[in-house]
Amino acid sequence: MSEGISSTKFRESMAHFASGVTIVTMRAPEGPVGFTASAFSSVSLEPPLVLVCVGRQASLHDRILVHEHFGVSILAEEQAWIASQFSQKKVDRFHEVPLREGPHAAVPLIDGALVHLECRCQQRHPAGDHTIVLGQVLHASSSQGRPLLHYRRTFGKFAQ
Ligand SMILES: Cc1cc2nc3c(=O)[nH]c(=O)nc-3n(C[C@H](O)[C@H](O)[C@H](O)COP(=O)(O)O)c2cc1C
Repeated sequence: MSEGISSTKFRESMAHFASGVTIVTMRAPEGPVGFTASAFSSVSLEPPLVLVCVGRQASLHDRILVHEHFGVSILAEEQAWIASQFSQKKVDRFHEVPLREGPHAAVPLIDGALVHLECRCQQRHPAGDHTIVLGQVLHASSSQGRPLLHYRRTFGKFAQ
C-alpha cells in the first residue's frame, strides 16, 4: 500500500473546505505590505491566539518572520476584489484599497472589513512548505456586515 496522496489530490480535496478570507498586513520600512490568506484560524481563548499559514515561497514569508506585529482583516462580502488584488504578483496590492492604522500595534488594516485584529507574533513553526505563525491578539474590533467566503477557488456570499 502506498503512503500519502498527490498534491493535486490534496489541493482538490481541500478546495471543498469553505472558509472566510483575510488580508494579513504588516508595516514595512517602505510602507504597508500584505497578502490574502484563508489558512487562518482562531487557536486559543486564553490567551487569545490566532494562526496563519504562510507559504515558504511567498515573497512576504521572510518578513512575517521578522516583524513583531501583523494585522488581520476579515473581509466583507463586497471585498472580493481586494482578496484578488492581494494575491497577485507585480501589482500595487494597496491600489485604491481604503486603509486605516491599528491604534494598538500601528499595523495597516483594511477599512470596511468585518473584523480587524492587531497581533503580536508569538511563535513560528515550520510546517512542510508553509510556516505556521501564531499571533497573540492585542486588539480586536468587529462591525456589522456579511462575510466574504471562498470555496473551490471561487469567492462567494453567505446565503442566509
Ligand atoms: C483565496 C486565497 C487564499 C489564500 N490563502 C493563502 C494562505 O493562507 N497562505 C498563503 O501563504 N498564501 C495564500 N494565498 C496566496 C497569497 O495571497 C499570495 O498569492 C502568495 O503568497 C504569493 O504571493 P507573492 O507573489 O508575494 O509571492 C491565498 C490566495 C487566495 C486567492
